[in-house]
Amino acid sequence: MSRREIDLDSTHDERVMMPVATESERTVEVSLRPPTLDDFIGQRDLIGHLRIVLGAARARGQHADHLLFAGPPGLGKTSLASIVAAEMGSNLRVTSGPVLSRPGDLVALVTDLQAGDVLFIDEIHRLSRTVEEVLYPAMEDRRIDVMIGRGPSARSLRLELPSFTLVGATTRTGLVAAPLRDRFGFVGQLDLYDNDELRQIVARSAALLSVPLSGVADAIIASRSRGTPRIANRLLRRVRDVAAMEGSSLVDASAAARALDLFGVDVFGLDKIDRRILSLLTGQFSATPVGITTLAHACGEEPSTIEDAYEPYLLREGFLIRTPRGRVATEKAYRHLGVVPRGGGLV
Ligand SMILES: Nc1ncnc2c1ncn2[C@@H]1O[C@H](COP(=O)(O)OP(=O)(O)OP(=O)(O)O)[C@@H](O)[C@H]1O
Ligand SMILES: [Mg+2]
Repeated sequence: MSRREIDLDSTHDERVMMPVATESERTVEVSLRPPTLDDFIGQRDLIGHLRIVLGAARARGQHADHLLFAGPPGLGKTSLASIVAAEMGSNLRVTSGPVLSRPGDLVALVTDLQAGDVLFIDEIHRLSRTVEEVLYPAMEDRRIDVMIGRGPSARSLRLELPSFTLVGATTRTGLVAAPLRDRFGFVGQLDLYDNDELRQIVARSAALLSVPLSGVADAIIASRSRGTPRIANRLLRRVRDVAAMEGSSLVDASAAARALDLFGVDVFGLDKIDRRILSLLTGQFSATPVGITTLAHACGEEPSTIEDAYEPYLLREGFLIRTPRGRVATEKAYRHLGVVPRGGGLV
């Protein structure tokens, strides 16, 4: 396959299944965020532990331990950060790793905190080393040392900070530097949701958006949402749009399935990029395991996008496996694409 063919094929306007939020989506998302722990569906163990951590802090009358949430995009990390602030009755201050490019940016932010504030740093794995170094004593001892002046007359000034809770979010814990990770009192790993949980999320969002959805329609949307609430909500909105165009007052199962087919979302919730990954693994790269960089380039995507956004679901659903030498398609992938494997050796 030529490079041109690949590029053409992988350009698409509609990233229906892309777990990362689009700009316009962010506004809608805020209205769909679960406001309290009780409204948060799924992630049972994590929510249980969080209840204990926050409850104990409240009982002591202190701020909660620093918390790190990790997991693929769209699973609820930002939602949890605002829930933590709400549950603690605190203000939420929001920033992100790439925004804090210089140590001074972080100093300005933490010295402006009020006692009890929750400071949320999204994409915390993208903090630079120099900014991280300011963060360590701030997290550990609630102090920062700032250098005043330059050269021989430079001196260090220690600033005490009010008590605060740092909430970090990352798409992968492995990307967070070990010394930073160790300074969190609690690390919560979010996993892909099961169909039943997604169905509850779709039903909740449908009620909030006043979408008249039949009971089976929510199950169909859930089953094609690749374990991700953000995608479930997005598919719900697309289904609502198609139903509106068709003039239906109730979105039933067949209307939902029709709408999702229209957007190229198949019964397993796979979209164009997923199918491209699988067709590369069962075609061009079927002879030998393939590394993530090669695979990503062949798809016209960043390796991190494939790894964070696509691979977790394909792994969970058993379409591919990771071996020490690279990715390999499974029998399920061959069957799904209707490709006959060359020379056996299937997994
Ligand atoms: N457990 C849940 N219950 C209900 N809705 C949820 C849940 N988790 C996430 N959502 C919905 O999914 C959307 C995306 O969630 P959120 O922004 O918190 O994900 P995220 O993990 O921070 O994603 P990213 O890594 O891209 O920042 C939210 O608007 C929220 O409506
Ligand atoms: Mg987020």
